[in-house]
Amino acid sequence: MRYTRLGSTGLEVSAISLGCMSFGQPDRGNHEWTLDEEASRDLIKRSLDAGVTFFDTANVYSDGSSEEITGRALRDFASRDEVVIATKVHGRMRPGPNGGGLSRKAIMTEIDHSLRRLGTDYVDLYQIHRWDHETPIEETLEALHDVVKAGKARYIGASSMHAWQFATALFTAERHGWTRFVSMQNHYNLLYREEEREMLPLCADQGIGVIPWSPLARGRLTRPWDEVTARTETDEFGRTLYHPADRVVVERVAEVAAARGVPAAQVALAWMHRNPLITAPIVGVTKARHLDDAVASLDVELTGEEVARLEEPYVPHAVAGFR
Ligand SMILES: NC(=O)c1ccc[n+]([C@@H]2O[C@H](COP(=O)([O-])OP(=O)(O)OC[C@H]3O[C@@H](n4cnc5c(N)ncnc54)[C@H](OP(=O)(O)O)[C@@H]3O)[C@@H](O)[C@H]2O)c1
Repeated sequence: MRYTRLGSTGLEVSAISLGCMSFGQPDRGNHEWTLDEEASRDLIKRSLDAGVTFFDTANVYSDGSSEEITGRALRDFASRDEVVIATKVHGRMRPGPNGGGLSRKAIMTEIDHSLRRLGTDYVDLYQIHRWDHETPIEETLEALHDVVKAGKARYIGASSMHAWQFATALFTAERHGWTRFVSMQNHYNLLYREEEREMLPLCADQGIGVIPWSPLARGRLTRPWDEVTARTETDEFGRTLYHPADRVVVERVAEVAAARGVPAAQVALAWMHRNPLITAPIVGVTKARHLDDAVASLDVELTGEEVARLEEPYVPHAVAGFR
C-alpha cells in the first residue's frame, strides 16, 4: 500500500480508500444491493490486511447500518489510532422536521448518532454530503467548527457541490476563523470529468485533498456496457449519472486493459492515480477480487499514449450527481 497526505494536512491516508456504502443491511434504507454484515466484515478485514487505512461511510447509507457494520469491524480488526474513519451528514435520517440537512441542530444531533453507530469517540473526517440550500453556510460552518472543537471530529470535508459554493465555504470559514474544509469528495472518473473545469483547479490552488466517489463509474468502467450485476439492477442513482455516448470510453478502457493483460478496473484506477491532484479514489467493492484489483492498480503506470486513448472519446456531461 502507498500512503499519502490528505491535501495540505499532515493526515496520512492510504492511497486507496474503501467505500463502505457497499456494506449495510439490504432491508434498511434504499440500497438493496448491499452486502450483509458477514460478507462486509470479510472485505473490511481483507482491506486492512492489504494496508488500507482510510474508510468512507455516511449516516444515510443503509439507514445507518453501514456505519454500524463498519464501526464493529474496525473495532474488531484494527487499531483505532491507525485507521482514518470518514463519515457524512446531510441526508434525511428521519421523516419530519430536522430529520436531515445542515442546520446547527441537525449537525449536532447527527454527529452523536454517527459516533454511537460507529462505536467511537471521534471521526477523523466529518463531511457535508451535499450543499444545504435552506441553511446559511455560516450556520453550518460554525456548527462544524464546534464539532471539531468538542473533539468529535479531527478534520472536516465537503462533497459534491458547485465550485463557487465550495469557494464560498472556504473563504467564509477563513473570514470567521472557523475550521476549514480540507477535502473534497466529488464525482470523478473517466466517464464524468466535468470536475476538471472548476473544482479540481480550485482544490489544487487551495491545497484541498481530492477523494473521488464512484471512481469506476459504479462498475461501468470494469465490464462490457450491457453486462448486468445484482447492483446494477437496483442502483437507481447510478442510472442517472451516465449516458450511451460513454460506451466508447468503456470500450477504450477494455482495449488498453486487454493489451496489458490486466483487468479493466486496474486501468481505470491507474488513470486516477497518475493525477497528482487526487489523494485517494474511494473504491466500492462487493467481491474480494475487486479489492485486489484496487490495490494492484497502484502498480500500473499508464503511458502517455494509453492515457490519450482513454481520454480522447470523452463527451461533456450535464452536471450530474448533485443539484
Ligand atoms: N459523496 C457522495 O455523494 C458519494 C456518492 C457515491 C459513493 N460515495 C462513496 O464512494 C464509494 C464508492 O462508490 P461506488 O461503489 O459507486 O464506486 P465504484 O468503485 O465506482 O463502483 C463500485 C462497483 O464497481 C464494481 N467493481 C469494483 N471493482 C471491480 C473490479 N475490480 N472488477 C469488476 N467490477 C468491479 C462493483 O460492481 P458490482 O457490485 O455491480 O459487481 C462495485 O460495486 C462508496 O462506497 C461511498 O463511500 C460517495
